[in-house]
Formats: sequence, structure tokens, C-alpha cells
Amino acid sequence: MRKKFVAGNWKMNTDAARARELAGQVVAGLAAQPAWAAKVQVAVCPPFPYLATVAEALKGSSVGLGAQNCHHEAAGAFTGEVSPVMAKDVGCHYVILGHSERRHKMGETDAQINQKAKAALQHGLTVILCVGETLAERQEQRTLKVLEEQFHGGCLGLGKDQMAKVVLAYEPVWAIGTGHNATPEQAQEAHAFLRSRAAAEFGPEVASRLQILYGGSLVPDNAPQLLAQPDVDGGLIGGASLDAGKFLKIIEAGAR
Ligand code: 13P
Repeated sequence: MRKKFVAGNWKMNTDAARARELAGQVVAGLAAQPAWAAKVQVAVCPPFPYLATVAEALKGSSVGLGAQNCHHEAAGAFTGEVSPVMAKDVGCHYVILGHSERRHKMGETDAQINQKAKAALQHGLTVILCVGETLAERQEQRTLKVLEEQFHGGCLGLGKDQMAKVVLAYEPVWAIGTGHNATPEQAQEAHAFLRSRAAAEFGPEVASRLQILYGGSLVPDNAPQLLAQPDVDGGLIGGASLDAGKFLKIIEAGAR
């Protein structure tokens, strides 16, 4: 049985004081609801400058810390970059890789994402690998092809043991920050397809354990239906994760 996993991607938001406060509110909310924490794995992914601050606020709680990106080298002359070793050192357990905003606004390729994934896994991080089609790709009926390519490209060369430390996030680009979430049926179709690709490439055991999160305008109102789908194992939350009340409601939906 796969555990539900709800992660907040704060993107380029908050300041130090707000990051500390928001993390504290999530910790307190979960402490008041031990049944949710027992059923749902929870993480928050603040911007790099606030990782240490948030790590401090999460101390002693079950809430995990994640980075939103990392470089593929451990150290060196890469001005402005952050290595997976640094993310681990500051307390991260997770790193989000291949987010659509990095693919489409920063031009990251599957090959680069794959390099980063290998480095992150080598240095002990769990990778939250994001995949998802654009609106044009969906309209051209290319959704499954795109998902297959991004999954294959992102996980290329990983061993079965490494795949145990990979979480997938299906985030249709057209649903991110738009208020237009995928329907439960659309999400289920994409997730089941991704699981079938994982089975084809890494075997049925890896596939059956693989957590696949949905992301894209996931809010308290639509969380119960989306998270009830058999292949939807949780959510990667953007906007709603900046409001502890909304984020906790989504966790509650995951605990049902
Ligand atoms: P929204 O929840 O704001 O649509 O963002 C989703 C996302 O990109 C999470 O990584």
C-alpha cells in the first residue's frame, strides 16, 4: 500500500519571517491531528535562502524539507548554483526536479534533469520528478507521448534501487496556477499511464511502490476527488501551500 504524500512547492514566494511562520503553522496543524500525520507524508519546499530557517522550524516534526532544484555537480565553479550536497547539508530530504517552470522558462532538458536526478540520488536526496504536457500538446493528443518521453528521459540509467527514491509528480502545464485543475479522470489516466511506463522500464514491483503526485490548481475543494483516484498518491501544491489552512485541508483530504 502506498502512503499518500502532500508536498508544498512555495516557488519564489515568502520572506524569512513568513517562511518561518508558515512552516510553524503546518507543524502545529499536524501536531493537532496525529491521525493525518500518520496517514500522510508531508513536505514543504521553500526557496533556497530560507531552507535553513525552515529546517529549524520543522525540527522534531514529521514534516520533511525539500529544495526546488539543484545542480548536478557536488561543488565547484558554478556561480549562482546550489549543489545536492548543500541541499542535503542544510537538512533537505527531497529535491523537486524538472518542474515545468524550469523546463519552459529556464529551458531545462530531459538530459539535464536526468543528470541532476542522478546526482541528487547519489547524494542521498529523494527526487520529486515533475512531468506534464502543455495545453497545445494535450490538444494535439500528444499527452501520453510527452509523459513517456519525460519519464524515460528523466529516469534514464537509474537502477531499481534508485527508483525507490524517486517520486513522480504529474503536473499538466495548463493546470499550474490557472485555476483549471485536471479532472479526476484526466489525472487518473495520466497517473495509470505513468505507472505502466514505470512497470515496463523498472518492473512491476517498482511501479506498484512508486508514489505519483498530482499538481496543478489542487485546492481544498477539488482535493477529495483527485486524491481518491487509485493511482493518485498525493499532491504537489503551489498556490494553496502558501496558506497553511488550505494546505492542511488538502492533507486532511489525503488522510481520508
Ligand atoms: P499551483 O498549485 O499553484 O497550480 O502550482 C502547482 C505546482 O506547480 C506545484 O509544483
